Amino acid sequence: MRLAPQPSAQPLRLIVLLLLTTGVISSPVLSTGCPDRCVCDDQLVVQCAGQHLTTFPVNLPLATRQLIISNNRIAELPPLTLNYLSDLVYLDCSNNSLTEISESTFGNLRKLAYLDLSFNTLTRIEDRTFGPLASLVMLRMTDNPGLSEIHPDAFAENAALQVLDVSRNNLTVFNITSLIGLPALRSVGLSGNPWSCECDNEDLCLWVHLEDEGQTVCGSPADTQGRRLGEVGIQLRTLCHQTLGSWDYLFFVVIGFVIFAAGTVSAWLMGVIMVLYERYIKKKDEVQTGNRIAGCPNSCQHSDTHEMTRKTHISLS
Ligand SMILES: *[C@@H]1O[C@H](CO)[C@@H](O)[C@H](O)[C@H]1NC(C)=O
Ligand SMILES: *[C@@H]1O[C@H](CO)[C@@H](O)[C@H](O)[C@H]1NC(C)=O
Ligand SMILES: *[C@@H]1O[C@H](CO)[C@@H](O)[C@H](O)[C@H]1NC(C)=O
Repeated sequence: MRLAPQPSAQPLRLIVLLLLTTGVISSPVLSTGCPDRCVCDDQLVVQCAGQHLTTFPVNLPLATRQLIISNNRIAELPPLTLNYLSDLVYLDCSNNSLTEISESTFGNLRKLAYLDLSFNTLTRIEDRTFGPLASLVMLRMTDNPGLSEIHPDAFAENAALQVLDVSRNNLTVFNITSLIGLPALRSVGLSGNPWSCECDNEDLCLWVHLEDEGQTVCGSPADTQGRRLGEVGIQLRTLCHQTLGSWDYLFFVVIGFVIFAAGTVSAWLMGVIMVLYERYIKKKDEVQTGNRIAGCPNSCQHSDTHEMTRKTHISLS
């Protein structure tokens, strides 16, 4: 409740304050006070730019619509204080020392249309950071030299977003899947980042080509440095989707050889088996014939030929 003014003895004012803090009414007339070193006007604009502030201003009018705290050294946006300003439409935090913003930072700013986070020291943007900002039209987040990671779904819920500027950060890849789905988006600033021009960033490269932006160039790999993203994107499209690579060809050669070898070996084996079988049959036949000649048991069937052979044999002995 840091935003609430000091309780006064006047009963009317107390009631008004109560209604105000419970959110029943919020009218410019009821806003009280103005933060130190800031200028507040009757248009609900609070101007605190360049005042050497190191912390977020306290005692802000609850109905503030525009808050300008640029060119200070503010290190943190306190969620509790900020989210009292539910009528805020315009927030300029550029040129401060912000290192972190989270899901709760902008949790209640549903009317916010303009947000400037440029010239800070942000390093990463998480999923849902801007999720509650349903009315956000313009987001400027340039010149954060350490900002190297933006979650793929960071802007997924900002259906009203028209202008996004992430120029001059430290971004190498940017998953544009959720950006493509934003119906109102018409301008995206990407220049001045060390973009990766490899397959993991192919979608962005192709997209930039469609948007035809001239200042957006590759930072890596070395052989693409300084070349326009869109230009490299066309090459990546073929390079990253080759249906057959050299390993695939090698695979086919090996498989072919294996099939050939297996065929040869099995044919040879079949041959050997056939030869052995034929020999076995022949041998069996010979043995049987030999048996008959050597003296037929009673059960022997006596064909004429056999009989004659027997007789011959007997007469010979
Ligand atoms: C940032 O703010 C400082 C004052 O705090 C000012 O001297 C400097 O010029 C500003 N930089 C930009 C880029 O606006
Ligand atoms: C930018 O990111 C690279 C890694 O991608 C890192 O080595 C470098 O220190 C970063 N630059 C800054 C200014 O943080
Ligand atoms: C981009 O993010 C989506 C999820 O938001 C994911 O399904 C997709 O695989 C990602 N694309 C790349 C190239 O990482």
